[in-house]
Amino acid sequence: DTVESVIVAIDGPSGTGKSSTSKAVASALGLSYLDTGAQYRAITWWMISNGIDVADPAAIAAVAGKPVIESGTDPAAPAITVDGLDASGPIRTQEVTSKVSAVSAVPEVRTVITDLQRSIASAAAQGIVVEGRDIGTTVLPDADLKIFLTASPEARAARRSGEIKGSDVAATREALIRRDAADSSRKTSPLAKADDAVEVDTTDLSLQQVIECVVTLVEERRSTP
Ligand code: DC
Repeated sequence: DTVESVIVAIDGPSGTGKSSTSKAVASALGLSYLDTGAQYRAITWWMISNGIDVADPAAIAAVAGKPVIESGTDPAAPAITVDGLDASGPIRTQEVTSKVSAVSAVPEVRTVITDLQRSIASAAAQGIVVEGRDIGTTVLPDADLKIFLTASPEARAARRSGEIKGSDVAATREALIRRDAADSSRKTSPLAKADDAVEVDTTDLSLQQVIECVVTLVEERRSTP
């Protein structure tokens, strides 16, 4: 039987297990996968590499359309290039992480990246899981299923510092709270839960439990058109 194409939006702050959950759900259901945070990180990396002052929104806006960003959509091997260069390593540096909120707050950057995200989603014939901050509210308001992942700041900091070798939980917690505050308070499409999103608090759930919960929600949505 034919499997209907399904579009799943997964939003939430950092450290809620968004990426791990989104990749696993896409793999389990045979869907494509898009990490939109990686795209904002990629454009930030390009700005830094090209000497653009990330504290100057006008300078960022003037060149927002220049970098050519390409995202792979295989959940088993997420790939991202900028002007043909592999960006998957460089976008995870501390420098990019500390500057990405400023770059992604610039409206011209959001327009360019949002257009790219919509064209990738509409090209995914079998369906796609798209993870980010504004997917359910702005990028794909007609998504078939919207999930908003949350977790306590303590749980999020502990998960993040578990990923970064030798990091300190208290410092990670402060940096994470600062980035979420910036992402939630910006004027253009801030981090927010869509009215029709299903909120899943992951504080006391294992990754496996979160994956199972989301897979069940997708299957329910698919059987009730
Ligand atoms: O998910 P992440 O930590 O890789 O995202 C990096 C940053 O990109 C995040 O701090 C805010 C921005 N972002 C955004 O503004 N909109 C999205 N849809 C995804 C990420």
